[in-house]
Amino acid sequence: MPINYTMDKLLIVANWKSNKTVSESIEFLQKLKMVFLSLPLSNKELVILPQFIALPACAAFAKENNLPISLGVQTVSSFSDGAYTGEVSARQAGEFASYVLLNHSERKKYFMENDESLKEKFSQVVRNNLTPIVCVQDENSFIPNGATCVVYEPPSAISTFSTGIPESREEVEKVFEKIKNNSSAKLLYGGSVSEKNVNEYVGIPFLAGFLVGGASLDPETFINLIKAC
Ligand code: PGA
Repeated sequence: MPINYTMDKLLIVANWKSNKTVSESIEFLQKLKMVFLSLPLSNKELVILPQFIALPACAAFAKENNLPISLGVQTVSSFSDGAYTGEVSARQAGEFASYVLLNHSERKKYFMENDESLKEKFSQVVRNNLTPIVCVQDENSFIPNGATCVVYEPPSAISTFSTGIPESREEVEKVFEKIKNNSSAKLLYGGSVSEKNVNEYVGIPFLAGFLVGGASLDPETFINLIKAC
C-alpha cells in the first residue's frame, strides 16, 4: 500500500543491508517489542528494511505482536514477474513491504546501477503501489518525476565507505535547499547517523527523517537513536 505521510512524523529508516539471518532479524524485533511502549514514537515512523528472505518472517512477527513498524526492501527488480533468474519483483515484495529503497550508493558501486536502472525500478515500484525512497548522492543527482521521498546520502558519509565522515548540518541544509528547488519530495538525510549525532540534524528545514545503516543493526543502539531524536 502507498503510504500517506503525516508531515510532522520523522521517518526513521533502518537499512540492514546484507546483514542478519532470519532468526537474527526476529531476535532484533523481539528486543524492540520489549521496549517499544516506552519509546517516543508519537512523532516518528519506523521503517525496517530487512533482507528479502527475512521479510515474510518480520511481517508475520510485526503483525502478531502489533509492532508499530513498517517494512520495506533495499532494492527490487527492474522487471515485472517472469523469467529473470534471481530477481524479486516489486509485486512480490509488495506482499510484505510498503517501501522500496532505490539508487543506494552500494547498488551503484557494486551492482552497476545508474539513472536508467533507477527509472526502471522506480516505475515498477510506483506501478505496484509501493513507496519509493530514492537515494541521491548530491544536489545534482537525477530524481524521478513523482518521487515523494528522497534521501540525501553522500557516499563519503556512509560509515562503511571511504571516509565515513557524517555530512555537516550546514552542508545538509545547503543541499536540501537546492534539492527543494526542483522537487517537492520529503527529504531524509543518511550517512553515519548515530545516537550521538542524530540530534545535530533535527530541525534542519525540510528534514523529514533519516536513513540509518550501521547504527540500526544493534537493537540497543537503534533504540537509543530513536530516543535521541
Ligand atoms: P551508515 O549507512 O549509517 O552505516 O553510514 C547508511 C546507508 O548506507 O544507508
